[in-house]
Amino acid sequence: MRIVLLGAPGAGKGTQCKKIIKKYGLKHLSSGDILRQERAEGTELGKKAQSYMDSGALVPDDLIVEMMAGAISEAGDVGFVLDGFPRTVNQAEKLDKALEAKKIDQVINLIIDDKIVMSRMTGRRSCPKCGAVYHVKNMPPKVAGKCDNDSAELIQRPDDTPQVVTKRLVTYHEQTKPVVGYYEKTNTVYDIDSGQDADQVSDVIFEKLDALVSA
Ligand code: AP5
Ligand code: MG
Repeated sequence: MRIVLLGAPGAGKGTQCKKIIKKYGLKHLSSGDILRQERAEGTELGKKAQSYMDSGALVPDDLIVEMMAGAISEAGDVGFVLDGFPRTVNQAEKLDKALEAKKIDQVINLIIDDKIVMSRMTGRRSCPKCGAVYHVKNMPPKVAGKCDNDSAELIQRPDDTPQVVTKRLVTYHEQTKPVVGYYEKTNTVYDIDSGQDADQVSDVIFEKLDALVSA
């Protein structure tokens, strides 16, 4: 299966991708996670991406398309879930070209109110070691500030401040929302209310993907 998960910052893309890959054995290809890894390793790409990410702007398309085409080819034939990519119509067009005859089987669009996004982002904590995502109120770890999987000290993402989240939302509405319209022309886009509890959201996603698997 080749899946694209769309949604605003904080819609729950990362949270749902982790559940999807566990159930279906797919690769999780998150452009944001790959960029953060590049930054942590101090690569040229990481250095170029830094100022865009920290201000809530998009990293230029050419850098992202090359990076994600590489990740897709490395993923091989097991199938993948794309998280955070494509994020512009230009990226979506380039992705279609790179996939050639293969196609995206399902586009899932997580719909969330901007007002909910702010509290999700400012309460988010992540594990720097395994990438697990928590929320101080909605999904707290068993021990405050520590990852359930490896006890690492949880961190807050530098782009989760109220000012940067506000900018990321503007960027989303201007540049990423049109990607939904792009896919509506060629693929089936499945809209899901992502304001519900995370398990309720994944139940709806699983129902859709189960139907796809058995079709
Ligand atoms: P990226 O890392 O992709 O950030 P994003 O799209 O802003 O999305 P987030 O990761 O913030 O949110 P999410 O939807 O994954 O939510 P999560 O599951 O964590 O990108 C970062 C930056 O990289 C961009 O700003 C850009 O600069 C650059 N970039 C990346 N891709 C790019 C591209 N293709 N082109 C150009 N630039 C690119 O959940 C959020 C919180 O809510 C968590 O605390 C979680 O526990 C909680 N939560 C989740 N679901 C629920 C629920 N149902 N109920 C209650 N709480 C919930
Ligand atoms: Mg994410």
